[in-house]
Amino acid sequence: MASPIAPIAAPSPSASSGPAAVRVRGFTRRFGDVTVLRDLDLDIAPGEFVALLGRSGSGKTTLLRTLAGLDAAPAEQVSTPGARAVVFQEPRLLPWKKVWRNVTLGLKSGRSRLQATAALEEVGLGHRVDAWPATLSGGEAQRAALARALVREPQLLLLDEPFAALDALTRLRMHQLVLSLWRAHRPAVLLVTHDVDEAIALADRILVLADGRLAVEEKVTLARPREAGPEFQALRRRLLGHLGVEQPAPRDTAPLAFIPPAPPAGGIRAAWSRPSAPAVNGHNGHNGHGGGFTNGARAGAQLGGGLS
Ligand SMILES: Nc1ncnc2c1ncn2[C@@H]1O[C@H](COP(=O)(O)OP(=O)(O)OP(=O)(O)O)[C@@H](O)[C@H]1O
Ligand SMILES: [Mg+2]
Repeated sequence: MASPIAPIAAPSPSASSGPAAVRVRGFTRRFGDVTVLRDLDLDIAPGEFVALLGRSGSGKTTLLRTLAGLDAAPAEQVSTPGARAVVFQEPRLLPWKKVWRNVTLGLKSGRSRLQATAALEEVGLGHRVDAWPATLSGGEAQRAALARALVREPQLLLLDEPFAALDALTRLRMHQLVLSLWRAHRPAVLLVTHDVDEAIALADRILVLADGRLAVEEKVTLARPREAGPEFQALRRRLLGHLGVEQPAPRDTAPLAFIPPAPPAGGIRAAWSRPSAPAVNGHNGHNGHGGGFTNGARAGAQLGGGLS
């Protein structure tokens, strides 16, 4: 159920199990006269996967940049682990450096090629270690960006719409990759996305940023991999509602009713059909149990239609 979070630091099972990876208290960020983040509180537990939704311009990147240390913030208000890595919407590879050198950019270790190779193998790019960035596909370049993040062994992984520029199938593969990397390395993750389905598919917890604050928190308890069943759809509708996206009334979700042949009309076959709403027994066709139907909404959910 949707729950406004004031404050978001209210105890949660994940957050109460140890010191937070991210702790933000009363953080405000202004640009000139415009207040983008207002007295914001946030906790992310070690190893927790959090997705952040919000309308364009609501301040998601501003918050992520602050957590990444790219924008200064008072230490008493914003506390993060030292080992952090960021992946942006665009891979940001230097075109004049080979892929492996991009991955180890800024690392001091003398074993950097070995480290880069290991990280590239983990993201399925072991064969492109010596490639130039310009020869990579969009998905490969974004995997290289993930390898660059991995090699830093982050305790906090910050992802700012990292899959937004990818086609739907590549995005689905990237979801699987990110989940497998997260399981293997267990960083805390903050994923900024416009894609409600992506948030539900990946995150332990989903937050919605509105009016400078984290206005909504939804815990996702569905087992992974997450199929677009009734719970998924209900959560999807709630989140879309929070984001102000108008949705058509649910339809085609009523259970099939058996319509027997009218006696004695020969030649008429029994048929499965949905009762028209409202049904005689008071059933209006929306009971949240739409399992078994494959419809456009389900396909759309699995392909992760974005909102932006
Ligand atoms: N350096 C800056 N100087 C002035 N205004 C800024 C600066 N950075 C961000 N803003 C403003 O702060 C607001 C929030 O920007 P931000 O990039 O955080 O939004 P966002 O939620 O990430 O949006 P989107 O979903 O479109 O990426 C916007 O109105 C933006 O114009
Ligand atoms: Mg942004």
